[in-house]
Amino acid sequence: MAPMRVTIIGTGYVGLTTGTALAYFGHEVTFVDKNPEIVERLRAGVPTIHEAGLAEIMEAGRCSSVFRTDIPELSGTGVVMIAVGTPSKRNGDADLSFVDAAATEVADLVQPGARLVVVNKSTVPVGSARHVEGIISRRLAARGVEAEVHVASNPEFLAEGRAVLDTLYPDRIVIGTESPIATGLLRELYAPILEQTFEPPPGSPRPERYELPPLITTTPTSAELTKYAANSFLATKISFINEFSVLAEKVGADITEVARAIGLDQRIGPRFLQAGIGWGGSCFGKDTAAVLALGSAYDYDLQLVRSAVEVNRRQRMFVVDKLQQQLKVLRGTTIGLLGLAFKGNTDDMRDSPALTLVQELHERGAVLRVHDPVAMPSAKRHFPDLPVEYADDEVQLACGCDAVVVVTDWDQYRRLPLERMAAAMRGRLVLDARNLLQRQSVTAAGLDYVGIGR
Ligand code: UDX
Repeated sequence: MAPMRVTIIGTGYVGLTTGTALAYFGHEVTFVDKNPEIVERLRAGVPTIHEAGLAEIMEAGRCSSVFRTDIPELSGTGVVMIAVGTPSKRNGDADLSFVDAAATEVADLVQPGARLVVVNKSTVPVGSARHVEGIISRRLAARGVEAEVHVASNPEFLAEGRAVLDTLYPDRIVIGTESPIATGLLRELYAPILEQTFEPPPGSPRPERYELPPLITTTPTSAELTKYAANSFLATKISFINEFSVLAEKVGADITEVARAIGLDQRIGPRFLQAGIGWGGSCFGKDTAAVLALGSAYDYDLQLVRSAVEVNRRQRMFVVDKLQQQLKVLRGTTIGLLGLAFKGNTDDMRDSPALTLVQELHERGAVLRVHDPVAMPSAKRHFPDLPVEYADDEVQLACGCDAVVVVTDWDQYRRLPLERMAAAMRGRLVLDARNLLQRQSVTAAGLDYVGIGR
């Protein structure tokens, strides 16, 4: 593989993980982030996000990585990846101001004779590739610079908590561009992944029976819509099983058994059928809102997506109501929440169901104690006014609690010290909002078990 020069703008989950993998393969990667503290930490080899296997692969690719706060001059042949944030605007639409700023800066730094592929890696609305192309070509014309700049949409499908694995061993790579040169250069860039020619890094082994990922080449618009369709579908799949979890309770079925039975149908598949408190995180809420906004711009109502969002909202409230049903009066009770992160293996709390629980239960007068294996520092930093008491471990959390709720699917919560927790609690209720625990082990510790849809 001939090493390529790559500039990554934005070192969030997508930028940092993708760039780190590319550096590991031997490409020369320059990471750019406006925040000097982030750059400082990355230079010191300290990951700025909590991801399994990231520190190892960063270390291994250290010699091929440069970290800086500004974009360098762009000359010769190379790839520039825009991986900045695209927060939601009020109407749900994605806010492109960071993308626009990055594209403008890139255009100002392109040197005469350069041959570049500029890649939209961030999740961006339909039409963004053309939008970025327009910004760059107008700027180059104004500067009187002759250069070849090809734009492509290359959406990222990594999930937090398994970002390194998803990057090294993806299900597919999607490239949307009108330019055969862009396709060619990106195919070269991703050759180590497409052909799996790299040695798996420590901590991120190649999954058994992993097959080479297909490269899907398509138009920018189809690539952009693919990302929204994928996330909308996954969010809908979860809302589907959650909708059935409520019905399962009413008729006396067990949703975990129903999910297993339908998941074995190859047309349905077993993943994303875990019923619980509903989805959260930085993507599903933002992307479903963006897709609804896109539909309404065309006077088209995406009924399924809208319902998936509504079912998700209702599911969070279902957990709150369940707690109220069990404890009757919430005011004056002490409730312990196990988990703050929106899912296990991450310290990310964006749109976490835990935040909804804290807000609703606090409003109803409950005193809240929380524990999370990794997210507590990030909670204290990002949500300094959260009305909660932090506990160092699960037993301390249980101390004086009328109920304990499993909110995040951390693996370590599967093995809770239930007897010691039971001894520390004031009440007996364990509400398992992730269906993580075995009813028997909870009742054997003298506690009452309530799950979701079982
Ligand atoms: C998601 C997509 O999976 C990923 O492809 C995309 O690039 C970004 O958005 P992420 O938000 O990191 O990734 O996490 P994911 O594993 O998809 O989980 C999202 C939410 O759904 C979490 O709150 C999780 O707990 C919940 N979930 C997931 C369920 O409630 N049930 C399930 O069966 C699966």
